[in-house]
Amino acid sequence: MTGEARPDFPRRVRSFVRRPGRLTSAQQRALDERLPRYAVDVDLTDLRAAFDRPAPLVVEIGFGNGEALAWMAAREPEKNFVGIEVHEPGVGRLVRQLDDQGLGNVRIAMRDAVEVLSGQVPSASLAQVRVYFPDPWPKKRHHKRRIVQPAFVEGIAERLEPGGILHLATDWAPYAQWMVEVAEGCERLENLGDPWSERPAWRPQTHFERRGLGRGHEIFDLVYRRGC
Ligand SMILES: C[S@@+](CC[C@H](N)C(=O)[O-])C[C@H]1O[C@@H](n2cnc3c(N)ncnc32)[C@H](O)[C@@H]1O
Repeated sequence: MTGEARPDFPRRVRSFVRRPGRLTSAQQRALDERLPRYAVDVDLTDLRAAFDRPAPLVVEIGFGNGEALAWMAAREPEKNFVGIEVHEPGVGRLVRQLDDQGLGNVRIAMRDAVEVLSGQVPSASLAQVRVYFPDPWPKKRHHKRRIVQPAFVEGIAERLEPGGILHLATDWAPYAQWMVEVAEGCERLENLGDPWSERPAWRPQTHFERRGLGRGHEIFDLVYRRGC
């Protein structure tokens, strides 16, 4: 099942806008020649099968240019990572980093994360889900595009193993507050902060974080654990 969303991830307004025509020829070549080595097969019904070894599975949603994902995968070699991103140039950049660093514990799904989570991720199969600096969609009429929504968080909680972690970060204070309200509505998740957490050692500074800091924004980390 790949195209249809399960009821716990109802089809919704998308959290991204595709901007075609921005791929350089080097990026296109990286996608054509190198992505197949890392791409998750769209017919897989369990993301864990994308790896040739069992290991705790961490999913990063919206990895952007992939810098943080490559950094994390290099520092947590005992874990498997799946990065989900729709922005093709970013995927091209990550593929090059994985090749250059010889990282074998990362797979890539170049698709809408909502589709991947609803179709390829069984219940209680993920150790962690990391969502760093998702598009804040600041205008009120665009709030429905924010990826952090009640159904999205419920769906993630369902797919986390008991004890599994959902880690969110943003530099947009109103979105941080929104995230808290949404996540507090999910009974299975327990906030490990008050409500904010210190940046955990596993998260590097990201590209969009640096951009936010350059604009004088405060950074908010939220760490939730699935109770049972
Ligand atoms: C603001 S950027 C943050 C990138 C990176 N995490 C960082 O901190 O630098 C948000 C990213 O999420 C991606 N994105 C948004 N909605 C998505 C979805 N439904 N599925 C996959 N990627 C998505 C966008 O393409 C974009 O690259």
